[in-house]
Amino acid sequence: SLATALSTAAFAQDLSGKVVGFSQIGSESGWRAAETSVTKQQAEERGVDLKFADAQQKQENQIKAIRGFIAQGVDAILVAPVVATGWDDVLKEAKDAEIPVVLLDRGVDAPEDLYLTSVASDQVEEGRVAGNWLVGDVGTEPCNIVELQGTVGSTPAINRKKGFEEAIAGHDNLKITQSQTGDFTRSKGKEVMEAFIKATNNGADICAVYAHNDDMAVGAIQAIKDAGLKPGTDIKVVSIDGVPDIFTAIAAGEANATVELTPNMAGPAFDALAKFWADGTEPEKFIITESKLYTSADDPQGEYDRRKGLGY
Ligand code: AHR
Repeated sequence: SLATALSTAAFAQDLSGKVVGFSQIGSESGWRAAETSVTKQQAEERGVDLKFADAQQKQENQIKAIRGFIAQGVDAILVAPVVATGWDDVLKEAKDAEIPVVLLDRGVDAPEDLYLTSVASDQVEEGRVAGNWLVGDVGTEPCNIVELQGTVGSTPAINRKKGFEEAIAGHDNLKITQSQTGDFTRSKGKEVMEAFIKATNNGADICAVYAHNDDMAVGAIQAIKDAGLKPGTDIKVVSIDGVPDIFTAIAAGEANATVELTPNMAGPAFDALAKFWADGTEPEKFIITESKLYTSADDPQGEYDRRKGLGY
C-alpha cells in the first residue's frame, strides 16, 4: 500500500553529501504535486541536497534544467520526461559527464544505456486494468465510451490508450466513440467532456468515460453534473492515479473505479542510486510499481483518509 511504501523510507540510507537535480514536468495534476512533495520528503530523509526545477510542461525547460545540473556537477539527475521523444542529446551529455540519470514515472524513446534505470508503472497494464474493470461492469450491454487522453506524446497517454483498447478488443458491445486529449488537467478534462456531451445528444449516448488520470475524471464529473446527468450512474467514470479527490467521488457514487499510481517514485530511485554509489551495482533497467484497482467495494472513504496528508 501507499502508506507502507512511504514508511519504508524509515530504513533509508544516509546519502548526505549527495547533490541530486530533479527536473519535474510541472504541476498539471494532484498526482504530480504529490510526486513533487514526496520526492522532496524522500530526499530530506536521506540527507540528499535536492535541486528542484519545475519545467511548466515544456520539454525545452527540462532540457535546460538538465544542462544546468550537468554544469553544476550534480551526483545524479532525476527526470520525469514530459514527452517520449527528443532526449537523446541531453542524455548523452549526462552520460559523457558520468552523471547517472533516473527516469521517474514516464518513459523515453532513447537507447537504454543512456539512463541508469526507470522507476514507473506498467502503463499499458494500467490501461488494461481500467478496461477490464469496464468490460466486467458493463457485461453484455452496449457501451459507448468517451476517452480523455493525457498529454500528447507522453508515454502514459500512449500506453494507457493501448492497454485499454487491448482490454475491450473482442467485446463488440464496447466501443470508443470519441477520444481527445485533456492534457492531464482538471480544466481541460471538463472542457473536453462538455464538448463530448454536446456532440452526443446531451450525453444520452455516452455509457462511460475513461480518463487517463483522475484529475481529468474530476473535471468530467463536473461537466456531467452541469449537463443534468448523474456521474457514476448515467455515465460511468473510470480513471487512473488514486488521488484523494477520486476516492471522495467514489465514496459519493460519482466515480466508479481508479487504478492507483504511487507518487513515491523517488524512494526506489534513491535506493537504486545508493547501491550504485556504494559498489557499482547496476539496478534493473525498469523498476515497476504496482497498478491496483479500487472501486466502491474497497472502502473509498478509508482510502481517502489514508492518502490525505501523504504528500497530496
Ligand atoms: O506520468 C504520470 C501521469 O502524469 C499521472 O497519471 C498524471 O496525473 C500525471 O500528470
